Amino acid sequence: MADTEPVINKGLEGIYFAESSICKVDGQAGKLYYRGYSIEELCGNSDFSEVSYLLLNDKLPNGNELEGFRQQLADERYLPKSVVDFIKENSMRMHPMDTLRSAVSMLPAYDTEAYDNSPGSNMRKSVKLISKSASIAATIGRVRSGGDYVMPDQSMGHVESFLYMLNGRKPDPKTVKILDVMFIVHAEHSSNASTFGVIVAGSTLADIYAATTAGIAVLKGPLHGGADEAALEMMYNIGDPDNTEKYIEDALAGKQKIMGFGHRVYKTYDPRARIVKGYLEDLQTNGSGELKNLSQIALRAEKLMIDKLGASKGIWPNIDFFAGPVYVSLGIQHEIFTPIFAASRMSGWCAHMLEYWKNNRLLRPLEKYTGQVDLKYVRIEDRK
Ligand code: SDX
Repeated sequence: MADTEPVINKGLEGIYFAESSICKVDGQAGKLYYRGYSIEELCGNSDFSEVSYLLLNDKLPNGNELEGFRQQLADERYLPKSVVDFIKENSMRMHPMDTLRSAVSMLPAYDTEAYDNSPGSNMRKSVKLISKSASIAATIGRVRSGGDYVMPDQSMGHVESFLYMLNGRKPDPKTVKILDVMFIVHAEHSSNASTFGVIVAGSTLADIYAATTAGIAVLKGPLHGGADEAALEMMYNIGDPDNTEKYIEDALAGKQKIMGFGHRVYKTYDPRARIVKGYLEDLQTNGSGELKNLSQIALRAEKLMIDKLGASKGIWPNIDFFAGPVYVSLGIQHEIFTPIFAASRMSGWCAHMLEYWKNNRLLRPLEKYTGQVDLKYVRIEDRK
């Protein structure tokens, strides 16, 4: 029987590779649920530590469970000296996501259960990774700004500690609250490219450190996690709000993609972008000169893109578009936007890995071979 012509799904678009009860992304309705709770419910009532527990354990914690989980995160936020030294030595020599990926790769050296793949060990390592990836991201930002490693304060909450280690001073509660929401909206998003990368790595039974290191590598790209920094760079390049429309029109005419817009699944407004945008509108009126400028540019770019490509091509703002100006308003430097994304998404990565291992199957897709076969070897002296 002649081979049936294989169907190539470029980018695995529309392909289901597993079942999961962690996250529902409704791309048509623009709805997002973590373990059944809408992103709006969680941003309005929860915090990142509790959301991380929910993602990992498929339930909201009771009082004791939440206190214990928060204590585990606090206990694990210190960094081994050699990891701090690596960050100090290399932070200015490579992209922050490479420093983050490399530092996470060092962690097994300090974990006696690094290669124990039992469910209990993997849960403990997930907490270690969620805690330490935030400390590493903060320390990278701190060192790149000329500061020294800040010993974590175990009495602080997770995001409060991140800001303390980043800036070397106790953060104000409003900054903590806004950044905590940013951590929540970045925590999980079903089978996005970086989560898929984690699962591909873990499906070979590589350990959770190796699998999440793969996720950090995948998240770096500007088509994925790197879009937040790229979108802000575009806003700075636009400079004056009155330049916005011409800049965007010229970019589109030149077939450039506008970072922070479009999505493989959302064909309407990304609900996370709506939440993040809410912090921007306040800046448009009350922000300083720079922030007022950025927010006006962002809102004018949003209007133009929606008018031009929203209904016609299903291209709408995604989570990355408004994130940059909000981070700037929190005093966070652009080079650690994506490391923050990674430190948040660490919860989703670990949750998916623990779930997939319950019914593991090596991920090995096919590709349609278009080359030749049975060629005869030609000796070097006979080649042209
Ligand atoms: C994240 O998957 C997830 O869940 C990811 C994420 C998560 O939480 O993990 O949501 C986080 O990565 C959000 C996306 C961040 N990336 C960007 O903002 C980069 C800019 N966006 C595009 O590169 C693009 O929209 C993607 C990559 C996000 C999705 O692209 P697809 O599904 O592969 O679609 P495509 O590139 O094939 O585009 C389809 C059409 C093309 O036009 P035609 O060739 O058909 O004429 O839409 C156009 C594209 O040119 N298009 C855009 C555009 N995005 C798509 N045109 C202008 N600007 C854009 N941003």
